Amino acid sequence: MATERTFTMLKPGVLSRRISGEIISRLERKGFDIVAAKLMRAPRVLAEAHYAEHRGKPFYEGLVDYITSGPIVAMVLEGDAAISMLRRLCGSTKAEEAAPGTIRGDYAMHTGLNIIHASDSAESAEREIGLFFSPEEIVDWRDGNDSWI
Ligand code: RTP
Ligand code: MG
Repeated sequence: MATERTFTMLKPGVLSRRISGEIISRLERKGFDIVAAKLMRAPRVLAEAHYAEHRGKPFYEGLVDYITSGPIVAMVLEGDAAISMLRRLCGSTKAEEAAPGTIRGDYAMHTGLNIIHASDSAESAEREIGLFFSPEEIVDWRDGNDSWI
């Protein structure tokens, strides 16, 4: 499998609920390498650009309001087939369809407050990584443990 990078965001509510460590642990335990991370409050223009594909949909304004309402943790994760692997780990978009054992299935009751974002394609990952991180903020590292996970 090809090594990929994907973008993820712990949405507001994660820090408020004091579960950021738990969620990051689950990402690490799966085997992703965290190659970039920052705590930030997303400016509205950034949030709008991030979710531009949803502009005009009924949930768009509420979604932008939500992800600008408090601090987020933005990260770039690396690993084999990282894009699809992270989507599966996060679970279905709709809260009632997210299977137990997935992050959304275990931590979210409402679709609009589903706690974690994950890029949905290689194009989205590249675009979203570029929106949130400059190239020098991404750390290229290897510790040799990939052969164990
Ligand atoms: P995300 O972009 O946040 O990773 O979520 P996703 O790919 O699984 O789902 P997407 O279709 O991109 O939707 C983005 C976010 O909008 C909210 N949403 N609400 N009420 C609705 O039908 C609805 N559909 C989507 C969710 O919070 C979703 O994470
Ligand atoms: Mg999406």
